[in-house]
Amino acid sequence: MKNSKSKSILVLNGPNLNLLGSREPEIYGRETLLMIERRLVAAGKAKGIKVECFQTNHEGVIVDRVQQAKRDGVEFILLNPAAFTYSSIALRDALTAVQIPFIEVHLSNIHAREPWRAHSHFTAVAVGSVLGLGSRGYDLALDYAMARLKTG
Ligand code: DQA
Repeated sequence: MKNSKSKSILVLNGPNLNLLGSREPEIYGRETLLMIERRLVAAGKAKGIKVECFQTNHEGVIVDRVQQAKRDGVEFILLNPAAFTYSSIALRDALTAVQIPFIEVHLSNIHAREPWRAHSHFTAVAVGSVLGLGSRGYDLALDYAMARLKTG
C-alpha cells in the first residue's frame, strides 16, 4: 500500500484567464484554459506527478487556495497572477507564508506592453518567471517543476 502522498503541482490562474481563447487572442492566443490545463495534467500523469489546476477571478479565493495547497502538501506552484500581478500583496504574502516554491507565468511579454504592466509583485519571490511564450510558457515551467521534484 502506498503510504506517502504522490508529488503534486498546482497550476493557479488569476482573473480573466477563464476567458482564454476568446480574450484578445492576438495577445493571449486561441487556446482555451481547459485545453492548456488538460495538456498539463497529461504531461504530469506521464511522469507520475499529480497536476491540479485552479482558476478564479477573486482575490480571497486564490489566497485561500494557496493556503489549502500547503495543507495538501503541494510541492510546487505555477502561477499566472494575471491582473493580481500588479495589485495583490495578499497573494504575494500568501505565497511567502506557505513557502511553496513557484514560477510566475505570463502568456504575454509584460515588459513589451504598457509600462505599468512591467512591475510584478511576484517576480522577486518566485523561483523564476516565464514571459511572452504564450501557452508554451506553462509547459516549460511544468517541465522545470517536474525535474525539480524528481531530483528532490
Ligand atoms: C497576463 C498579463 C497581465 O498583464 C494581464 O493582466 C493578464 C494576463 C499574461 O498572461 O500575459 O491578465 O498575466
